[in-house]
Amino acid sequence: MKTSVFEQACEAAKFLHESHPGLSPRIGIVLGSGLGATANMVQNAVRIPYSAIPHFPQSTVAGHSGEMVLGQVNETSVAVMQGRVHFYEGYTPQQVTFPVRVLGQLGVETLILTNAAGGIRPGLAVGQLMLIADHINLLGFNPLVGPNEPRFGTKPGAGLRFFDMTAAYDPQLRALTQHIAREQALRLDEGVYLAVSGPSFETPAEIRAFQRLGADMVGMSTVPETIVARHMGMRVLALSCVTNLAAGLGATPLSHEEVFEAGRRVEDQLARLIAALLPAIEAPTDAAHEGRQ
Ligand code: HPA
Repeated sequence: MKTSVFEQACEAAKFLHESHPGLSPRIGIVLGSGLGATANMVQNAVRIPYSAIPHFPQSTVAGHSGEMVLGQVNETSVAVMQGRVHFYEGYTPQQVTFPVRVLGQLGVETLILTNAAGGIRPGLAVGQLMLIADHINLLGFNPLVGPNEPRFGTKPGAGLRFFDMTAAYDPQLRALTQHIAREQALRLDEGVYLAVSGPSFETPAEIRAFQRLGADMVGMSTVPETIVARHMGMRVLALSCVTNLAAGLGATPLSHEEVFEAGRRVEDQLARLIAALLPAIEAPTDAAHEGRQ
């Protein structure tokens, strides 16, 4: 008999629990193209290839290695996804967001999403990290289309058919991240991320149109994951690495290699930022207070 996505997510989460007994990660991290360094900080790590996790989709893209890394960063338990799958690989919106369902069932309450993005806003520099403050979904789908599954909503206000996306990217977490970035003398601006399906990069005319729509960065991920995480009542923090200037804004044609290499150059900065952020997220009251200073 075909099992539901809910049952499949429970089965995958149970498998992960049993792979690292006693570990209860409250924070999940998804690492984008060339941004894998954060996974190297995990201690007592159990590394599980996506192919071993029941029902998990497997990445087909070079640079997205496809491993779940369970363990601790300093004192904080984490579930780190090194690599993700994308819609352009031919996966359905439900498959693309299945890992987020699994993280939710594993007990993750805060999801940190990272991605490589093209810079649209004038003044953005290659290699710069950006906080996502909001998004524009031009993927052409919403991963929640279809019957609502209220069993994914164990947290207050979660699992609803219709829900608010006004503060999808948690304002407190953003303030906290800004605070930590300042301590690390790291420039961290905020912007609007626009998601397209890819896999071709955009045309210069599309980028000019996106600029007029209010987009600061463009990429091919993150938005479906954010929507599903919010459906489950998780708090979301998302960071983009500007790996290239968007089409028509830079001097050279775009390539995946360029994107990947630019990610490589900032992955250590990103790892340092996330490492400092984790204990602050786990101490929400003090952290929120600090974030406002
Ligand atoms: N466009 C879309 N996705 C991207 C880009 C881009 O320029 N750079 C990295 N991911």
